[in-house]
Amino acid sequence: MPLLAIVYFSITGTTETLAHAVARGAAGATEIALCRIAGDAIVSGRFHNEALLETIDRASAVAFGSPTYMGGPAAQFKAFADSSSDRWTRQRWAGKIAAGFTTGACAGGDQLHTLSYFSILAAQHGMLWCGLDIPGGEDSSGRNRLGSQLGLATHLVDRTLPQSDLSTAEYLGERLAKMASRNG
Ligand SMILES: Cc1cc2nc3c(=O)[nH]c(=O)nc-3n(C[C@H](O)[C@H](O)[C@H](O)COP(=O)(O)O)c2cc1C
Repeated sequence: MPLLAIVYFSITGTTETLAHAVARGAAGATEIALCRIAGDAIVSGRFHNEALLETIDRASAVAFGSPTYMGGPAAQFKAFADSSSDRWTRQRWAGKIAAGFTTGACAGGDQLHTLSYFSILAAQHGMLWCGLDIPGGEDSSGRNRLGSQLGLATHLVDRTLPQSDLSTAEYLGERLAKMASRNG
């Protein structure tokens, strides 16, 4: 069974809730590694967790997740990304499927920039980007509420994630699992 690595940073738990929803969507079709980026793994600005990077080495598909902070990924996620530069040199992750998810306090809180960053990170590594094939505003169950097809963009409504965002996250996991199986 292919391995899906879900690599994410979260402080107050919203991105983590999305990570678990992506995992639910992929369950049964892939093995799943939930890899939380821990702030204390960053020392003098450098992320140190070789085991997490080795998990990605073994994965067929990777989902990147971070809250949107100041119009981009959180610094902790960026520290993880910077730590992958040795893998980049060897294109160690080339050919793996990649996708992204993010959240924010505002509906239009510049989440697109975080997803764009994830897709560029994937391109740097020679990975194959997996967006969402749900036309925003057209899905009868309300998935892809914010109309982002590059990846999953969400925001808190009354301090909680709407069910439609969780359903979209589950769908992204299902789609990643299908692509990982084809790719494997
Ligand atoms: C430093 C900081 C910067 C933030 N910048 C943005 C932003 O640019 N756009 C936005 O919509 N929300 C922004 N937020 C809100 C977070 O994205 C939101 O609280 C998110 O749910 C946190 O994710 P987490 O629960 O996984 O930690 C910011 C929050 C913090 C703490």
